[in-house]
Amino acid sequence: MNETLRLLLAHRSIRRFRPDPVPAETVERIIGAAQAASTSSNIQAYSVVGVTDAGAKRRLAELTGGQRHVEQCPLFLVWCADLHRLQLAGRIANPAFALEPNVETFLLATVDAALAAQNAAVAAESLGYGIVYIGGIRNRPAEVTELLGLPQLVYPVFGMCVGVPDQQPDPRPRLPQSAVYHSGRYSDDDALEAAVREYDETMRSYYARRAGGGRDTVWSKEMANRLSGANLRRHLHDYLLAQGFEFR
Ligand SMILES: Cc1cc2nc3c(=O)[nH]c(=O)nc-3n(C[C@H](O)[C@H](O)[C@H](O)COP(=O)(O)O)c2cc1C
Repeated sequence: MNETLRLLLAHRSIRRFRPDPVPAETVERIIGAAQAASTSSNIQAYSVVGVTDAGAKRRLAELTGGQRHVEQCPLFLVWCADLHRLQLAGRIANPAFALEPNVETFLLATVDAALAAQNAAVAAESLGYGIVYIGGIRNRPAEVTELLGLPQLVYPVFGMCVGVPDQQPDPRPRLPQSAVYHSGRYSDDDALEAAVREYDETMRSYYARRAGGGRDTVWSKEMANRLSGANLRRHLHDYLLAQGFEFR
């Protein structure tokens, strides 16, 4: 065990923050760590919008489904996939350049945003801050786009609350490693099912004892709910096309 591994293994999402602002030098260090992440062919196809204004955070809390921590955190980061700056760069090199939006460029930008964000998350945690990702930013993406002035070829992948933690939640258990690590060849379904059933039992006690929770449920049931109905954000396809992304 070393300090880095201890930090990574101590991660838990924080949803209650103290009001202390995040100093500008700290934001700079966190974003510096984000920028050090690997990026496909050095394209750096992401941007991040930092929001500290109380009114803007209140509106973003509404737009993300009434998540109070979005309003309460001192710093809300919106991580965006960004092909706009590459379009602009290409035009500097060649005025006739037209970026081809397709599945590949969409994935490059989305993956770059995620890698940078996770570096930022770890950096923030190493400095004593807590974070939680906010996928709810995709609930009403057109309004978020308008609020933040995102140009064509930029979309918000997720938000991230950052601040000094005002809670110490239990870590959320993960799947057994046998479910996610396949040695040489993808595991057979019997092995996967055994691992999921084992995890269901772990999570049954986690959900039962969770502060303010006490729910009688298991992971497989939660996932079946998560992957159906309104949770699927079916508006995203049309929103992304309107932002200039294409899926050819
Ligand atoms: C892309 C992404 C989106 C998420 N969106 C939300 C969200 O909108 N609201 C929230 O409270 N937590 C959100 N989370 C946090 C997850 O629920 C959390 O990471 C997961 O349950 C594991 O718990 P842990 O981070 O405490 O280990 C999100 C996490 C990720 C990676």
